[in-house]
Amino acid sequence: MNLLDMKKRSLVFATNNKHKLAEAREILGERYEIVSLEELGHEGEIPEEQDTLEGNALQKARHVHERFGTACFADDTGLEIAALGNEPGVRSARYAGERCDPAANMQKVLRLMRGVTRREARFRCVIALILEGKEHLFEGITEGEILEAEEGQGGFGYDPIFRPTGHDLSFADMPPSLKNAISHRGEAVRALERFLNQ
Ligand code: IMP
Repeated sequence: MNLLDMKKRSLVFATNNKHKLAEAREILGERYEIVSLEELGHEGEIPEEQDTLEGNALQKARHVHERFGTACFADDTGLEIAALGNEPGVRSARYAGERCDPAANMQKVLRLMRGVTRREARFRCVIALILEGKEHLFEGITEGEILEAEEGQGGFGYDPIFRPTGHDLSFADMPPSLKNAISHRGEAVRALERFLNQ
């Protein structure tokens, strides 16, 4: 560990999703050591049983804070598709069943959207931070549309079927740094960063 690393504040990100960790570290990593659940020694799933993104993000952050007493944040993200009444929303992870299978989730969306001309959708990400015993919420939104078929090999989750407004590429086709620069999670993490740095 060099001198710079020793000065970094450590902050737990209550996730084991390596894509989410990479996205958060790209933004916060210079000043903060972002610790994953695995690195913290937390085993098993964290409950997310609420019916809002805010509720789930808070539930995840509280779960970790209560067990480890450490400063931590958690995110919850939903894909809100206008033509489906903003579904899958908070049910995005389990849209096609309890297995949380991203391929099955995407296939379900593509099937429901077959022949639908109104294709606008948005990703909404909520981050809950618990710092010095206080709770704070941050939000990021990316507007875009649902593609007719999967495009691209990168990213994760619903990235291959989502194209952000003003871009020719799906999230899965973009270099990770571009996705992070315009994405819902990028925006929410930058809001978190501004709060931490103030
Ligand atoms: P959660 O926030 O991990 O509960 O994610 C809810 C669902 O949205 C899961 O199916 C994730 O794979 C998906 N998801 C979360 N963030 C993103 C993203 O940035 N792009 C695409 N899918 C995402």
